[in-house]
Amino acid sequence: MGKKVAVVTGSSSGIGRAASLALARAGYAAYATMRDESKGEGLLEEARREGLDVRVARLDVDSDDSVDSAVAAVLEGGGGRIDALVNSAGCCAIGAAEDVPISEYRAQLETNFLGAVRTIRRIAPAMRARGGGTIVNVSSVAGRIGFPCTSAHACSKFALEGLGECLRHEMGRFGVRVVTVEPGVTKTGFLGSARSFVPGGSPYAELAGRVAAGARMMVELGTEPGEVAAAIAGAVAADDPPPRLEVGKDAAMFLGARREKTDAEFERYVAGELPG
Ligand SMILES: NC(=O)c1ccc[n+]([C@@H]2O[C@H](COP(=O)([O-])OP(=O)(O)OC[C@H]3O[C@@H](n4cnc5c(N)ncnc54)[C@H](OP(=O)(O)O)[C@@H]3O)[C@@H](O)[C@H]2O)c1
Repeated sequence: MGKKVAVVTGSSSGIGRAASLALARAGYAAYATMRDESKGEGLLEEARREGLDVRVARLDVDSDDSVDSAVAAVLEGGGGRIDALVNSAGCCAIGAAEDVPISEYRAQLETNFLGAVRTIRRIAPAMRARGGGTIVNVSSVAGRIGFPCTSAHACSKFALEGLGECLRHEMGRFGVRVVTVEPGVTKTGFLGSARSFVPGGSPYAELAGRVAAGARMMVELGTEPGEVAAAIAGAVAADDPPPRLEVGKDAAMFLGARREKTDAEFERYVAGELPG
């Protein structure tokens, strides 16, 4: 029995980086994958200081070839085993549906949704062959709730949520566990680096500005990436993890309200017309 192996996408920063460390602390050989390996130097240094088995590898989730060669190398190095896959790579866009170009909808779907599909499809045969493994898809509160001026991102996360539900039926039969993690706003560079689409004279400029300002304010109060990483590591360690895991106070608040209210009531709540 070799050491357990984990692959984490989007590990150059934020939740993916923290999840790589958390899984290495849990005893995994953690492959922290990223588009640009030079961004992994600080992570490797931190892992070395703690004596953790973190390995940086290049993987761009947008590219079939990149996913193929990265996973092939991990399987070769780990004796054919991958016990955990964490799909954390992601990007964000802000702008009204009328203002966001179709190319950006494609880009969001390519990375946030198809990137996970691509990586899962490449790793699934190895998990099935060994009769087990855990796939964690990092979705978002935005995977369950449509806030204004976030549709390109929300669509990609809604798709990821659907994928997780389908996969549990399909892969559970082979001992593969699938968990969708839904963080609220988290203290990373994610929202700050969101691509913004608010053309001059847009009728949505005021609304998009309010959404962006609200997001910036919420990051200050957001959940630490280490807390999301701990939830991910907990899901990977569990024998029977739940289909979904909400992380953060804002996630509990919004998703709790979403469950309790009718669609019409919830719409008024998001618009600020109805108290929680
Ligand atoms: N922060 C939040 O408030 C929040 C809330 C809910 C859910 N999430 C989700 O959490 C996940 C991680 O986000 P984060 O908060 O940790 O933000 P982050 O620090 O910006 O991390 C995003 C990561 O995704 C990587 N990435 C982007 N495109 C990629 C691609 N094509 N291939 C491989 N990696 C790619 C980025 O790498 P580069 O360095 O190469 O750009 C970066 O490492 C995302 O899926 C996001 O939707 C975040």
